[in-house]
Amino acid sequence: MSILDALKKPGLPERYKNLTEEEMVKRVVAIKAEMGERLYLPAHHYQKDEVVQFADDTGDSLQLAQLAARNKKAETIIFCGVHFMAETADILTETQQTVILPDMRAGCSMADMANILQTERAWSKLQMLFSDTILPLTYVNSTAAIKAFVGKYGGATVTSSNAMAMVDWGFTQKERILFLPDQHLGRNTAYELGVPLEAMAVWDPITDTLEYEGDYNEIKVILWKGHCSVHEKFTEENIDKVRREFPDMNVIVHPECSFEVVEQSDFSGSTKMIIETIEQAQPGSKWAIGTEMNLVNRIIQQHPDKTIVSLNPNMCPCLTMNRIDLPHLLWALEEALVGQKTNQIKVESDTAFYAIQALNRMLARA
Ligand code: 13P
Ligand code: SF4
Repeated sequence: MSILDALKKPGLPERYKNLTEEEMVKRVVAIKAEMGERLYLPAHHYQKDEVVQFADDTGDSLQLAQLAARNKKAETIIFCGVHFMAETADILTETQQTVILPDMRAGCSMADMANILQTERAWSKLQMLFSDTILPLTYVNSTAAIKAFVGKYGGATVTSSNAMAMVDWGFTQKERILFLPDQHLGRNTAYELGVPLEAMAVWDPITDTLEYEGDYNEIKVILWKGHCSVHEKFTEENIDKVRREFPDMNVIVHPECSFEVVEQSDFSGSTKMIIETIEQAQPGSKWAIGTEMNLVNRIIQQHPDKTIVSLNPNMCPCLTMNRIDLPHLLWALEEALVGQKTNQIKVESDTAFYAIQALNRMLARA
């Protein structure tokens, strides 16, 4: 669903706008207790603290997909994350389970950078250039339609936790990979696996062109020209500055950051990897983190024994993740309690049929 469609949906009712935090917390606690196992509330690590405090589980994208696939008890899953994550949960859960996204405007700008028409156009041009030598892989940060496209052509989904394993697997299937929609995760992963930058081309979905100078036979990876608008705000200058000021600072970033930033950092990995690395670090150690601010602030609070800063001091949270707040969570819960399926995420069965193949190929290897 596009952001324009989302805006047509009814928004938060007025009655939730003037409630005190105390009142909202009281009601959330009561509904959670009343619904018990009929309700499941997973939350991504980028969610606000006011939401995370009520989560049954928190996780990175891979963990959240695995947890959704495993939960057979809950009638209602109130997914605290963004649209593509809720779609994934709907695809992986049973038909009788209802997935709710508390605010339909919680999209992902990266996922919106690849639509199905652009992808079909790209595919037919790439087939003409490379015939049947390409396997499509998509980062889970993509619409269900893109996942279905990838599933239909024998490919799989990928998360930041398993990108290395999945791209490695991809090369056992075909000579080349088309990696959607995050060029940075694709480039960082392929490079780590030994693919030189000269063997990577970029597909521009706006101009429908392949950006590459050289012999097309040398191309191993075709990167979709998409990116995360949050992670692109971490720069090489940020790293230089932090290293000048604190020579013993460790730099850890998410692989949605650019190639140059990942190359110059000390560590890179998924949100789970970032959390676990800091947990295991020595007291007194120093860390500059390059990822979303809700998570960075939470890590700072949880580790007063370490010096932790955001790699970019002017960073803000992911605005779409932030759409899910306490009033929207309470609204979703009160609707669920009375059996209303407000803001339900339902992936059409034709799309789900192929998308689940892409997800299962990943989950089988995760
Ligand atoms: P992970 O939690 O899987 O690392 O993903 C980060 C992200 O950007 C989700 O949108
Ligand atoms: Fe999308 Fe980036 Fe926000 Fe993740 S952090 S939901 S990739 S915009």
